[in-house]
Amino acid sequence: MILGIETSCDETAAALVGGDGTVLSSIVASQASLHARYGGVVPEVASRRHLELIGPVIREALETAGAGLDDVDRVAVTRGPGLVGALLVGLSAAKALAWARRLPLVPVDHLHGHVASLYLGDAQVEPPFVCLLASGGHTLLLDVGERGSFRRLGSTLDDAAGEAFDKGARLLGLGYPGGAEIDRLAREGDPEAYTFPVARVAGLDFSFSGLKTALLYAVRGLDADELERRRADLAASYQRAIVRALAGRLREAAARSRAGRIAVVGGVAANSELRGALPDAAFAPLALCTDNAAMIASAARYADPIPYPDYLALDAYASAA
Ligand SMILES: Nc1ncnc2c1ncn2[C@@H]1O[C@H](COP(=O)(O)OP(=O)(O)OP(=O)(O)O)[C@@H](O)[C@H]1O
Ligand SMILES: [Mg+2]
Repeated sequence: MILGIETSCDETAAALVGGDGTVLSSIVASQASLHARYGGVVPEVASRRHLELIGPVIREALETAGAGLDDVDRVAVTRGPGLVGALLVGLSAAKALAWARRLPLVPVDHLHGHVASLYLGDAQVEPPFVCLLASGGHTLLLDVGERGSFRRLGSTLDDAAGEAFDKGARLLGLGYPGGAEIDRLAREGDPEAYTFPVARVAGLDFSFSGLKTALLYAVRGLDADELERRRADLAASYQRAIVRALAGRLREAAARSRAGRIAVVGGVAANSELRGALPDAAFAPLALCTDNAAMIASAARYADPIPYPDYLALDAYASAA
């Protein structure tokens, strides 16, 4: 049994996962409402909240799984990329638990964690496949040849797709985090009402900053009443442009690859239009798209454990290695 711990951003999460990928518990304490008034995550606020929540969240993960620390064989924890102060809370908790129990510790890369959300539960996806990882901090196309490793085919040159959703939501006066809000409002709007540009970038990369600017100009041209009336159309058209860019590039990557199969992970994989646009793709289960610790425990099945007590000097890292 693997105890997973994730504190890279504003979710404090712990999970217990079996060696075969069975999710025995997955507890996620979101701090979103705490950061909402600032319109984004405040790193220092996040670190302090992780400190308050990490103990209770781990305890709840154990209780929900009907397990105790005696049942845990290894501890898995996100080491990066993410907010360093936030990561250090989870990493320190993981080290303390592993040290106290003389257990091995598996440091996990958060991006590998997102991909490993496909290796959980009953409908596990087998490589090879081309994977779109679209989250709040990243937008990547990955060639996944085997579990535990991948090769980058492309990435965003500026904003991540989730960031584009969040910034667009802010321009439209919607709450934070904005992806789910736009997803909901877009259902009431006309996706063809506005034509927003899909950036033409060479190779298999993405760009979303021009799209955000286009929305800014569209919103600026409207008075308060008009914005109120057109908000759903703007949301639907903006979402359509992001989905087009993501689905289009994923298809191009798949056509160039021998893998054949396609998959989507990360917070944006929860988007209903993206799911609809890619009926042949494997998606991570909805609850495991945004940050969680089950995916971190899952990734630990395919990474090397560090024996007690060699991991005590491990440090966190902020950006992708
Ligand atoms: N239904 C949805 N439609 C579109 N975007 C969504 C939806 N649900 C969540 N998101 C977006 O997903 C992002 C959060 O995803 P996730 O938790 O994987 O990202 P992160 O951990 O912040 O970033 P990273 O994984 O790159 O470090 C946010 O930007 C949010 O707006
Ligand atoms: Mg994430």
